[in-house]
Amino acid sequence: MRYIQDCEIVAHDLVAPKHWRMRLRSEDIARAAQPGQFCMVEVVETLYPFLRRPMCFSEIHDDGFTLLYKVEGEGTQLLSQRVPGQTCSIQGPLGNGFPIAPELERHVIVSGGIGVAAFPALARALAETCGRPPEVILAARTRELLLCADLFRSLGCTVHLATDDGSAGEKAYAARMLERLGPGPGTLVYACGPMIMMSTTAAVAARAGASCLVSLEAQMACGDGACLGCVVESKVEHEGEKMVRVCVDGPVFDAALIDWEAHNTAYDL
Ligand SMILES: Cc1cc2nc3c(=O)[nH]c(=O)nc-3n(C[C@H](O)[C@H](O)[C@H](O)COP(=O)(O)OP(=O)(O)OC[C@H]3O[C@@H](n4cnc5c(N)ncnc54)[C@H](O)[C@@H]3O)c2cc1C
Ligand code: FES
Repeated sequence: MRYIQDCEIVAHDLVAPKHWRMRLRSEDIARAAQPGQFCMVEVVETLYPFLRRPMCFSEIHDDGFTLLYKVEGEGTQLLSQRVPGQTCSIQGPLGNGFPIAPELERHVIVSGGIGVAAFPALARALAETCGRPPEVILAARTRELLLCADLFRSLGCTVHLATDDGSAGEKAYAARMLERLGPGPGTLVYACGPMIMMSTTAAVAARAGASCLVSLEAQMACGDGACLGCVVESKVEHEGEKMVRVCVDGPVFDAALIDWEAHNTAYDL
């Protein structure tokens, strides 16, 4: 079931430079949302900017959900000015979400930068259904951009920190951390972050015989499969084209399906 609802902003806090956490109230959307799915957010009530912005459900509560976002441009800048007590129009849930596969031996979340937003809801679902919380690799450029570490720990996850500048955890890229954790054929890796980080993570997982799911981002207009604004190149033909739509075929994809070379991100470590 999908909704378009005016949801009350319950809380809205700056959690790091240019990074905000917004909690919204909607029992309907919360009941329908699955980890990995997203919504289209109307950033202001006026006609400009016209297009809604896609955001994943970072946490799903009984009475609503939480968004975690980075101010990138005009839309997210305007969103950051909204205050508790106001309402925000939300369309969703949209997209496919992560499958929850308790039969697998090991679950490893690999997050880069604001890609972490996709994972608190997933970590909770895995901890509750698999009996064993996932391991989490939390990577960011600097210490202050490592978000949600305490939240993951409160769910029982082992959290491995990595920063590009070595200001916290290891001075290493996320994919290198994954390699060190030694994934194997019984491992499912979940990745979200910059394309280059997902590409290298997918390469490490493939080499180890592990499965890898990626949550992709793309600019979106309709969020509904109609405008083809969000297509990415895939390796296999899908409805006659080697393209997939992030909004309806994803945002979660098997990494083996994505044509990383077409995105100039097919680097190996
Ligand atoms: C399914 C999905 C879920 C997402 N979830 C989150 C989330 O939970 N938290 C979060 O912070 N962001 C998320 N994003 C990205 C977010 O939608 C964009 O950052 C936002 O739309 C930017 O809007 P803006 O008006 O601020 O920037 P704009 O002015 O539209 O753009 C500013 C800059 O960001 C680039 N940009 C815009 N949209 C995207 C995009 N989707 N992907 C990559 N680059 C983009 C533009 O090319 C431009 O350089 C998600 C995107 C998708 C597709
Ligand atoms: S955003 Fe229109 S098809 Fe995906």
